[in-house]
Amino acid sequence: MKLGFVGTGALSSAIVTGLKSLPGETTPVVISPRNEEIAAELAARYPDVRIAADNQAVLDQCDTVMLAVRPQIAHEVLRELRFRKDHHVVSLIATISREEIAGLVALAAQVGKALPMLMIARLQGATIICPPDPIVAVFFGRLGGVIEVEDQNEFDALSVVTATYASYFRYLDTIDDWVRGQGVADEKSRAYITSIYKALANAPDTAPDEDFMHLSQNYATRGGINEQMLRELTERGTFEAVTDSLRRVHRRITGQ
Ligand SMILES: NC(=O)c1ccc[n+]([C@@H]2O[C@H](COP(=O)([O-])OP(=O)(O)OC[C@H]3O[C@@H](n4cnc5c(N)ncnc54)[C@H](OP(=O)(O)O)[C@@H]3O)[C@@H](O)[C@H]2O)c1
Repeated sequence: MKLGFVGTGALSSAIVTGLKSLPGETTPVVISPRNEEIAAELAARYPDVRIAADNQAVLDQCDTVMLAVRPQIAHEVLRELRFRKDHHVVSLIATISREEIAGLVALAAQVGKALPMLMIARLQGATIICPPDPIVAVFFGRLGGVIEVEDQNEFDALSVVTATYASYFRYLDTIDDWVRGQGVADEKSRAYITSIYKALANAPDTAPDEDFMHLSQNYATRGGINEQMLRELTERGTFEAVTDSLRRVHRRITGQ
């Protein structure tokens, strides 16, 4: 594979960093010159990473091209480029459908979408790809895992999960804030919460046959403090509010 990136920003940088952290990894990578600083840093860090003169030069020097510009400028950027029939195009542009991208990269026969997250730099967090594609699946599989989906509906529904990170940390912050308010030292509160939530994050892997509802029930010992908190949050409509927000984010993602 000769890999190219059109748009060298935060996400491209994270993918290249993850890729080049793999032992013995020598895939040649060509990146577009913008962002200048990020491109220069990647090229200085990795001998197999080169900066192309412009976006067209990226395409001319690669067979697999990842599109990683912001959605607002995607049409303008892609309209100027000449894709070859043998180009394997993977769009990382979150809010533009595969069909729309396929129309913009005419001639390229293979066009798919992928949704990696920035933690890919540390080889963490699976990438969703659509449609299933063995080459792209192997690529992202090595960088934190891959979930292959058949159609845009599945892709969009899974994408909504990525809207929940900030709320997750706000939840932890609420716990942390309260604990510190009781006079516990900052570092002890943070260390304890981090340690416990890391352990909880392992629970689905240690009990692969249990769904999340069962895991919740397992912890909600009858008459215990977990049951109390779950009941109180449920009675206040907390989880319905989460579902409502997921629905609204989904509508936004799908443009409905
Ligand atoms: N970040 C994420 O967590 C994430 C997750 C999933 C999907 N995505 C998608 O990935 C894409 C890139 O996101 P990002 O976070 O990497 O954004 P970003 O950091 O803003 O990177 C985009 C890069 O494109 C460059 N650029 C601007 N005009 C260009 C042009 N004409 N030709 C080539 N490059 C140009 C920008 O350079 P300048 O700085 O010089 O303007 C910028 O560095 C977006 O479409 C986003 O929807 C991002």
